[in-house]
Amino acid sequence: MQIAVSADRAGQYQGDAVVVGVLQKSLLAGPAAEVNAALQGLLGQLLDAGEIRGRPGEVTILHTQGRLPAARVAVVGLGEVAQFDLFVLRRAFSTAVRQLRDRGCRRVGLALFPDAPFPLRAEPVVRALVEAAYVGLYRGDECKTEAGLPPELDELTVLGLAEGEVDSARAIAEAARHAGEATNYARLLVNLPANEVTPARLAQEASEIAAETGLALRVLELGELQRLGLGALLAVGQGSANAPRLIVLEHRRGQPDRPVLAFIGKGITFDSGGISLKPPADMHLMKGDMAGAAAVLAAMRAVARRQLPLTLLGLIPAAENLPSATAFRPGDVVHTYGGKTVEIISTDAEGRMILADALAYARELGATHLVDVATLTGACIIALGHVAAAVLGVDNELVEAVLEAGDQAGERLWRLPLFPEYRRQLDSKVADLKNVGGRPAGAITGALFLKEFVGDVSWAHLDIAGAAFAESDQPHQAEGGTGAGTRTLLALAERFSGGLP
Ligand code: BES
Ligand code: ZN
Ligand code: ZN
Repeated sequence: MQIAVSADRAGQYQGDAVVVGVLQKSLLAGPAAEVNAALQGLLGQLLDAGEIRGRPGEVTILHTQGRLPAARVAVVGLGEVAQFDLFVLRRAFSTAVRQLRDRGCRRVGLALFPDAPFPLRAEPVVRALVEAAYVGLYRGDECKTEAGLPPELDELTVLGLAEGEVDSARAIAEAARHAGEATNYARLLVNLPANEVTPARLAQEASEIAAETGLALRVLELGELQRLGLGALLAVGQGSANAPRLIVLEHRRGQPDRPVLAFIGKGITFDSGGISLKPPADMHLMKGDMAGAAAVLAAMRAVARRQLPLTLLGLIPAAENLPSATAFRPGDVVHTYGGKTVEIISTDAEGRMILADALAYARELGATHLVDVATLTGACIIALGHVAAAVLGVDNELVEAVLEAGDQAGERLWRLPLFPEYRRQLDSKVADLKNVGGRPAGAITGALFLKEFVGDVSWAHLDIAGAAFAESDQPHQAEGGTGAGTRTLLALAERFSGGLP
């Protein structure tokens, strides 16, 4: 898909469809007013009839019958002024573009909303619109063999830029294209089944990224993991015929005295729970327990393609958690790479184990800032549902940076505390700590477990257990993987590299 930006107005766009936004109660402003005039008051009539109300996500598709250069207009509701923000805008445009694609449109224009009742800078809006289009367009049907689906878009154009803004908007749109492609790449990896996406396949993906972009790649396989003593990753992986790996991608484009950022993604390619077997009902969804790894791979690919000037490491501990004659068991004591011993209470708390080793390994590689992303706890879904990811960390500056990156990226993040009082839930009688802290505050004790392995390096943890999955098809996005974390990581890398292009 070609991404373009233009100073053309909505009424000048020659394509299959132009999308214009309308706010409740101040409906006919900006591009909508222009389109209404060209359509001889048709939008006004639909408004009067109550068929267009401007409610969030409402999409009305009209044929222009030659009165406008675009064959169709999609009028998309942006809700009440008081509730309007870029999250609303993203969702509305994702929905509109998705519907237009399903009707066979190939060339779509997105009209900026210049008459918003408050100042909106063009840059974040261009970014939001382009990313939103990618979010809406992803289908998640790569394993289907049936033909006859509507074709993909050929071209997406953001319209209505001021003449002086076109060049900077083009750079933003290009960055947003990378972010959109990265999001959908992460979704693809999450949606592919665990018989395809094994630890070896994640390493293969990393190797293709390295070959394409020139990133340095190291994959630690079984012998090396044993020699180095990554006991926690080995314990989790020992029950599966698909051997574990530690995948390390390095993007070294920063000045020597600058921070070294590391992204660490949980890469459990299937989480059956192991000997602490999960109930069968939703077990199939645990093919997506590598969503953190997918976000890291996708963000690394985009950072490398954009050649952002920073030093960034991407680490993926990858393993499959299965029950078998060789599986680890409750009661086992595991020697981690960082040196601490862990008493296994549940083999289903496996994500924190593999991350423990990867965090310790990242510190050895010289990382000054660690950000891990993981579908870590069911408790996080209880706390925040599928709407938001949790952020935890003790370095307020890094946590703030992550929260702001999330905001910029259109991903909802919410901070949870790491009060020291929770730590005793992890006390073990036989080892340095146990891997489960009981039911209360499960997302927090999961993070506190990780904190034991970061030493005094600045660290933030993203629990994407809920955010990584859309439970059903939604107007703005397909069911399945959402790519959660991907754009936040990318925006964070942008910040560490000193801002946008
Ligand atoms: N992968 C799961 C967490 C999860 C559950 C992610 C549902 C997405 C959807 C994780 O490995 C896990 O099983 N966590 C346990 C931890 C518990 C044993 C302390 C959980 O949350 O139940
Ligand atoms: Zn588990
Ligand atoms: Zn898991």
